[in-house]
Amino acid sequence: MKIASKNIWITGASSGIGEALTLELVRRGGTVFLSARNEASLQRVQKACEGLKGRAFVYPLDVSQEAAIYQLRDTILAEHQHIDILINNSGISQRSLAVETPIAVDRQIMEVNYFGAVNMTKAVLPHMIARKTGHIVSISSIVGKFGFPLRSAYSASKHALHGYFESVRAENQSKGIEVTLVCPGRVKTNISLHALTKEGKAHGQLDQGQEEGISAESCARQIVQAMERSKKEVWIGGKEILMVYIRKYLPFLFYRMAAKVKPT
Ligand SMILES: NC(=O)c1ccc[n+]([C@@H]2O[C@H](COP(=O)([O-])OP(=O)(O)OC[C@H]3O[C@@H](n4cnc5c(N)ncnc54)[C@H](OP(=O)(O)O)[C@@H]3O)[C@@H](O)[C@H]2O)c1
Repeated sequence: MKIASKNIWITGASSGIGEALTLELVRRGGTVFLSARNEASLQRVQKACEGLKGRAFVYPLDVSQEAAIYQLRDTILAEHQHIDILINNSGISQRSLAVETPIAVDRQIMEVNYFGAVNMTKAVLPHMIARKTGHIVSISSIVGKFGFPLRSAYSASKHALHGYFESVRAENQSKGIEVTLVCPGRVKTNISLHALTKEGKAHGQLDQGQEEGISAESCARQIVQAMERSKKEVWIGGKEILMVYIRKYLPFLFYRMAAKVKPT
């Protein structure tokens, strides 16, 4: 699969991994539809794409607003005729203990990270099936593979993506639909700044773990490679990726480590 000349709808394009992915895709000749809530940031990303091989168009969207997703899908199809690739990248993280987190905060995280991706997919999948071609990429996390302190709802929302999108793949593989699940480890973005506390407020700090993560640009390049190679699942990051292997092959060791970890 080549990116050049593909129409790609990406959520969470206003910062971090989504911003870097947009630039990487436009650099490779893709036509990219940029969605997120912050229109000014989307316009900044669009401007950064000027002069590259492909094109970028701004379409503001809150992925927790179901009706807005369908309206925007219709607008994009009216203006650009088709969508080849959907990248579900919007996400919010968490910094609160399960025991102290009100259910409203759990729901808010699920609404964006899980139901946002599900609604986007419901909006686009019938169009892809009708065209007998399409690729859905969903950004999960390594905490979509195991639980981690202070991330109960976030980790649950990412685990849920695996169940949902593996089912979507199984149902639609024979109809020309590909699904790629991406599990980044630590990537240096603003995610910890916007992570929700137990009060439902932004955490407001760049955590040390985030600071030490790989760059968003490196993560984006590896995501695009995984898309081009039609990978079903890819794990991207530094030494923290080892935790996925330990959880899988040495679970007794993982449980001991997870209980002792000092999370940020
Ligand atoms: N950074 C990491 O270490 C890491 C690790 C594993 C997985 N991930 C995943 O990677 C994805 C991107 O995160 P990031 O690290 O790039 O963080 P980021 O810089 O905070 O970006 C998050 C993006 O999500 C968008 N977003 C949040 N709520 C939204 C909503 N209701 N509707 C539409 N868009 C919304 C934000 O845009 P607006 O505020 O403009 O809406 C922003 O563009 C997320 O799914 C995250 O869980 C990140």
